[in-house]
Formats: sequence, structure tokens, C-alpha cells
Amino acid sequence: MWRMNTCREIAATLTTPGKGILAADESIATMSARLEKAGVTPTADSRRTYREILASTPGLSDGVSGIIFCEETLTQVFSDGRPFAQAVRDLGMLPGIKVDTGAKPCPGLAGETVTEGLDGLPARLARYAQMGAAFAKWRAVFTITETTPTWAAMACNANALARYAAACQEAGLVPIVEPEVLMTGSHSIARCAEVTASVHAAVRQQLSLLRVDLAGIVLKPNMVIEGEDHAIQADAEQVAEATVSVLRAWPAELAGVAFLSGGQSPRRATANLTALQAHRTPWPLTFSFGRALVSPALQAWRGDETRVGAAQEALATHVAANAAALRLRGELQPA
Ligand code: 13P
Repeated sequence: MWRMNTCREIAATLTTPGKGILAADESIATMSARLEKAGVTPTADSRRTYREILASTPGLSDGVSGIIFCEETLTQVFSDGRPFAQAVRDLGMLPGIKVDTGAKPCPGLAGETVTEGLDGLPARLARYAQMGAAFAKWRAVFTITETTPTWAAMACNANALARYAAACQEAGLVPIVEPEVLMTGSHSIARCAEVTASVHAAVRQQLSLLRVDLAGIVLKPNMVIEGEDHAIQADAEQVAEATVSVLRAWPAELAGVAFLSGGQSPRRATANLTALQAHRTPWPLTFSFGRALVSPALQAWRGDETRVGAAQEALATHVAANAAALRLRGELQPA
């Protein structure tokens, strides 16, 4: 029981009004590719340095409640020798860890993926908790085509998400439950709404079967949005309306919703987050952006130590813009 209370408290802290979550948990492969593209040689130390630059941004905790890292970062230390988890806590934020091992081809379902990482998960979670992690993340991925995602892919991924979530709560870690419907493709916003609703229904069913406490999880969904190759770009009010319509199926006890940015430009992600605040919902609607927050910082830094301040300023500016959006919640909502 105490673990359930712990999870509820951590989930409430993660979704504190006016704050969001920073996703800095790119896998070693993804992070290395992004560093290389920015002209930085990818090594364990350049990945470490980059994450320290992000996490030590002055004032970050004003708009960020928690930072998600990958396992490599959690085993690394700040330049002053403090382990990342400790340093982040000292800075007033909660450290989290991505615990899935990636979306892999799903046997039986040509062209679709299932996210792996369940084998041995409870033992790993116990270790991460000991290392200071307060929460975890698992991302399931769905691609929209004329024939996908199939019910089978939704069922497989939803079951894995729920098993992960149950294991996290048993370990006293808050699970961030991330079912991501990708923006890849030319589908309409209506089709994204339909698919996202089906995916969420499958996830809710599995969470319920495995008795996951919704007050001790944070849902990390995609916003409901047209495919990146679709001819017409929906405006922020349309995205907010469509997104909230799908989310309304979640019960009030859910601790909170923290959106991924999914490849939207930083500007669009913030505009959509702002428009979302005009909707009255029983749970906070916040951000857990990766690219929409860190891309400008990486572009500013490019591995140049004289540009660390500029990188931190870029991150701080984008965090402040999204935190400001959250603070409009009271003002934008109908009385
Ligand atoms: P993006 O905001 O870049 O989509 O990343 C969020 C995330 O954590 C993906 O798993």
C-alpha cells in the first residue's frame, strides 16, 4: 500500500500545475545520430556532457518537474562527481528512466512493431529505484496506414504497456505510459482521432485487467493531429478539440496527461499546448516534450564549450514558453 501512495505522490509532483516533464532519454543510437548531425562526435562523454548541460540549465525546475534519461545517463555522473539522479534531485526535479528496449518487429504482424523490454524488468526496476529513479517510461509506437495499426498490434502493445506499468508500481516507480501514434503519413486529423481512441481503449482495458492504479500513472499521448504529409494543417483549436475529445474516455482519477511533441515544430507544439488549456478536464494537460525542447539547445551548442550558455538559454526559453502556456489554464477556461 505504501508503494501505491508513493506512486500517487510522485505522479502528482510530476504533473504539478505549471510544470512539465523534459524528455532527454534518447537511446544511445538515437542520441549519437543527433549529436553527429549537430557536428559533435558521439561518445559516452559527449552524451553525458550534453545531458548535464540540459539538466543544469539555471532555473529549469521553475517549469520542469522531472527529467527522463536513458539507462546510460543514469549510470553517469555530473562533472562534480554527483550521480545524475542525485544531481537532478538536488536541482529540485525528479529523475526518471526509459526502461523499454525499443520497438521491434512484431512476430506475426508484418510491418508492425511491439515494444520490448519485459524480460527481467522487475529486477531492473528495483535497481533503477536504488539508483534514485522516481519514475519510468515505456513507449509503444503505432503507424497509421490504410491497414495499420491492426487490432493485434494494439493488443500486443497495450498488454506490454500494462505489464510494465504494473511492474513499475510494484517497484514504487511511477510509470509514464506512452502510446504514440506517429505523425508519419498523409492521414487526416479525423483518422488520427479514430486510431488514437482505439489505441487508448486497448491500453485502458489492459491497465484495468492488471489492476494498475490510474492515480499513480502519467499518460503520455500524442496530440491528435493530421499526418505530416496531409495537405491541410489543422489549427491549434482543432487539434485541442480533437485531442480532448479522445482523452475524455479516461476516468477522472488519472493523475495527469503529459503530451509528447512527436516531431511538431517547437512553435506548433507550444501553440497546441496553449489551446489545450482552454478545455476543462479532470486531469492536468502538460508537456513531456523531447525534440520540441531540446532541438534548439542542441543546435545552439553543437559541442562548443563557449556555447553552453546559449544552449541553456535556448532550452530555458522553450521551457518557459510551455510553462507559460500551462499557466493560462485558469484564464482560458470558461467560468
Ligand atoms: P518527442 O517530444 O520528441 O516526441 O519525444 C518525446 C518522447 O519521450 C518520445 O518517447
